[in-house]
Amino acid sequence: MSADKPSLGSAIRAALLTGEPKEKIRATRRVARDWRLGRLVFSFPEPMPDRPVWPDGLELLPPTQMPRRGRGGSLRAQVASWHALAHIEFVAIDLALDMAGRFGAQQGEEFVSDFLGVAADEAMHFALLARKLGQFGSLYGALPVHDGLWQAACDTKGDVAARLAVVPMVLEARGLDVTPAMIDRIRQGGDESGALILSRILDDEVRHVGIGVKHFDKVSLTRDECPRKLWQNLVRKHFVGRIKAPFNDSARQAAGLPRGYYAGIAS
Ligand SMILES: [Fe+2]
Ligand SMILES: [Fe+2]
Repeated sequence: MSADKPSLGSAIRAALLTGEPKEKIRATRRVARDWRLGRLVFSFPEPMPDRPVWPDGLELLPPTQMPRRGRGGSLRAQVASWHALAHIEFVAIDLALDMAGRFGAQQGEEFVSDFLGVAADEAMHFALLARKLGQFGSLYGALPVHDGLWQAACDTKGDVAARLAVVPMVLEARGLDVTPAMIDRIRQGGDESGALILSRILDDEVRHVGIGVKHFDKVSLTRDECPRKLWQNLVRKHFVGRIKAPFNDSARQAAGLPRGYYAGIAS
């Protein structure tokens, strides 16, 4: 034991409390790397913040008040849609950090390693999208963003099973459903580099859903519950949106998410 090493929990907390985007990327990569290299001690001396820190001046709007994106292929619409994707990835960094920091002490080292790996992937996704925005002469924070994305974290902060059920297994799984059509549309519009960014993100997201499923199954086993029934009950209780078709069954299957879970509660 080396009491002189910094604690894992404090390093995660510090990344959550970093708002400036480049600094958040750096802090996230650093905590994932330091943990992998054995430079942090497995302890969580402080609670995780209820809300992470986001960039100064970022304008948060309720989903119903988000401005329209303009016409399909217009420059304005393209920037708005890359900006919306960048925001999803920015929040995904904090969702993965919070998963590791809030539930790591009870779930153990493998859980933390998996979700810090996810956090580092999300930081990379965000960096790719921020660079894309830069190519359009824009940047993250130039447009207002959807305020609803942290809500899932607040609603599930008391139960790791609920968090796993909703964040990787509903929200990230939804990304698997919608991304292929987005890739086709962007490729047809002639933006091959944009299509490649989204393909890379899609591959990683299959893995992220898989990590969620793996740990959800473990928690279900510990609680002596049927994973499918537990998942369906938790989603009904904690997820405010609808589970809706069409589903990307093959990507969901590759992630280990059986059709019998979501088809049963789809509306
Ligand atoms: Fe991502
Ligand atoms: Fe993800």
